[in-house]
Amino acid sequence: MIFFLDSVCLRDIKEACSTGLIDGITTNPSLIARSGVDMDSVVRDICCEVSGPVSVEVMSDGVDGMLSEADRFLEFGENVVVKIPASADGFVACKRLCDRGVKVNITLCFSVVQALLAAKAGAEYVSVFIGRVDDAGYDGLRELSDIREMYDNYGFRTKILAASVRSVYHIAEAAKIGADVVTIPMKVFRQLSSNLFTESGIRSFSKDWKEYMSSGTAKARDVRCVKEVCYME
Ligand code: G3P
Repeated sequence: MIFFLDSVCLRDIKEACSTGLIDGITTNPSLIARSGVDMDSVVRDICCEVSGPVSVEVMSDGVDGMLSEADRFLEFGENVVVKIPASADGFVACKRLCDRGVKVNITLCFSVVQALLAAKAGAEYVSVFIGRVDDAGYDGLRELSDIREMYDNYGFRTKILAASVRSVYHIAEAAKIGADVVTIPMKVFRQLSSNLFTESGIRSFSKDWKEYMSSGTAKARDVRCVKEVCYME
């Protein structure tokens, strides 16, 4: 499963990427607006920082506006993926860009039919907003699963991207369904490795080891003797 970080915060991006577990970045207009940064410069900086795909979203309504925004984004870096909403104009713009070899992420996908159009238009990714489906009182994971089934029926190669992720549970379930990609907010990324049993297991191993090591060197010497016998054999 490919991991993207859903963020425009360079500090968080550096921290998450330093783990070696993040394969790319997704951004969106709300994240950029909330952070108060200049879009062009932050996206250029992210594209330099990260070698994997960086999704940047167009804000124009019409096909021509989307295409010219896409051309501007493509100058930011070779790893730019143009993010286009799953609207009627969005699918047309997607098809035109994909025909030119540009990678497109169809975003704001909420239905199987929208995902079908994304695949027909040649999108590299389709972002399914599972958290927002849940917020509306429906089942976002079910939507994701239906899209997986439909893509498998036809062997579509568009990658299913689980977006609007709110919890570690969402990620576990998306992985079981077979989503190709998940984009993770920093808060959830920090929670990924957390497990109470692992943490208490580490504490009890550490306690036992410290007691053993402080109980005198005799036992450690015994261990070395046992090893020497083994090596001789
Ligand atoms: O970046 C797309 C998506 O992950 C945003 O999700 O619903 O938390 O704003 P949301």
